[in-house]
Amino acid sequence: MQQLSDADLVLETERLVLKPLTCEDLDIVLELFTDPDVVRYVCDLETPEQLESFLPTECQRGAGGRIGVWTVTRKEENKKIGTGILLPLPIEKDDTDWSLVVQDTYPDAEIEVGYMFIKSEWGKGFATETCRRLLKFSFEKTTLDVITATADPDNHASHHVLEKSGLRSEGLRYAYACQCSSFRISRKDWLVRPLVSDAAE
Ligand SMILES: CC(C)(COP(=O)(O)OP(=O)(O)OC[C@H]1O[C@@H](n2cnc3c(N)ncnc32)[C@H](O)[C@@H]1OP(=O)(O)O)[C@@H](O)C(=O)NCCC(=O)NCCS
Repeated sequence: MQQLSDADLVLETERLVLKPLTCEDLDIVLELFTDPDVVRYVCDLETPEQLESFLPTECQRGAGGRIGVWTVTRKEENKKIGTGILLPLPIEKDDTDWSLVVQDTYPDAEIEVGYMFIKSEWGKGFATETCRRLLKFSFEKTTLDVITATADPDNHASHHVLEKSGLRSEGLRYAYACQCSSFRISRKDWLVRPLVSDAAE
């Protein structure tokens, strides 16, 4: 499988730049995962020590770089404000199975899109801009035919982001070892999506 270059993995939108997560990004990881409001619908709070020791694993990329975590930076202030993901969806476990994220192949799993932002940046459209850009990347630079997403049934803001990004709600399903709200978009659906400006994607 062709490895994408570092430049190919930097994804721009009108206001944001998405870059592959590296070990230099502990700052944004700490900011996100030590805020109870940010992790409320996502996972348990973790200590800074746990987060630091897990960071190298989270920087792994699969499928020639196409699968992994990106940091999201606001171009205007060059400030990291969140993260976006394309990763294998866990079903029986409540966290990503990183053993599936390997260099040369696509994971044998559904691929989910996801995002997290620091609280001061909520409500400004950044999650939608990030999600749309990750979908564009998925359907232009990978051979994946479907992208999945799940969210806590009470995470209405995230449901709204996913629907605004063109994913279809499919009711409840089992993933992350619990019942989640389920969303999906196929390559065919993406190709006929209502036009948004390329910059906003
Ligand atoms: C969920 C989250 C990513 C949304 O990010 P965001 O940048 O505020 O999202 P956007 O501004 O692009 O869009 C949010 C939309 O949801 C709407 N919304 C916000 N809170 C809502 C709620 N409680 N119920 C319904 N809609 C809500 C907003 O009005 C907005 O829609 P609009 O643009 O039509 O007005 C952000 O709150 C976050 O990082 N939360 C913590 C991590 C998380 O839960 N990640 C998702 C895991 S599935």
